Amino acid sequence: MTQYSNRMVIVHWLTLALLVAAWFLGDELDEVRHEQGATISGYIVHALVGGAVLLFTVARLYFRRKDGTPPPVGQSLMDKVAKGVHHGLYALLVLLPVSGMMIVVNSGVGKALMSGDATLLPKKFTGVPAHDVHEMLVTVLIVLAVVHVLGAIKHQFIAKDGLMERMSLRRK
Ligand code: HEM
Ligand code: HEM
Repeated sequence: MTQYSNRMVIVHWLTLALLVAAWFLGDELDEVRHEQGATISGYIVHALVGGAVLLFTVARLYFRRKDGTPPPVGQSLMDKVAKGVHHGLYALLVLLPVSGMMIVVNSGVGKALMSGDATLLPKKFTGVPAHDVHEMLVTVLIVLAVVHVLGAIKHQFIAKDGLMERMSLRRK
């Protein structure tokens, strides 16, 4: 095996698209809430996109177990760091949506969603630690994703070892 399976590749790139959408929608939620314009549908769409990230990740971990992975690129310190970054990214793909669900359960968002009444949406999230955690995890995700992409760029343009092909649908 020299490449990830087709379904692993598809889920990797779909997850990236969902993350970009969830990040954008989450930032929008925060912004409109400060302008007193938050809507129920805004929270539902963000929760659905974020929830899809969790579903995709569970499916991906199952595919990973069933299909296996290509052998490690090497044994250098940087290769070990890359592996650690992958584990960190998987952890975040689970913890981030879970912390989002915790915000809904532990704040007025849950009640507002159940009743469909936007006036019940919280103006602030003080005393809701899940909100701080969710925000912090977004920052950690961005940092790890940047490190991950820099690694991919290094392989592609400096080492020129064809690593990107491992995460491509074009079969060798
Ligand atoms: C990987 C998936 C997710 C990403 C990338 C993401 C991203 C974000 C971002 C960037 C914010 C704005 C944080 C801020 O600056 O205040 C946010 C807020 C929020 N997210 Fe998520 N989120 C995800 C999943 C979820 C899920 C699954 C739920 C609920 C089921 C959720 C519920 C919320 C809520 C309630 C807020 C607070 C919005 C506000 O401040 O008014 N998130 N999210
Ligand atoms: C433009 C952005 C991205 C590029 C170019 C990229 C590229 C790659 C490549 C080439 C691999 C295979 C590495 C190898 O074979 O050792 C990979 C694996 C991986 N990527 Fe990305 N990636 C991107 C974004 C992301 C994002 C946003 C996430 C998650 C938050 C992510 C999570 C992962 C994980 C967890 C693996 C390890 C797969 C496994 O072994 O199960 N990637 N990525």
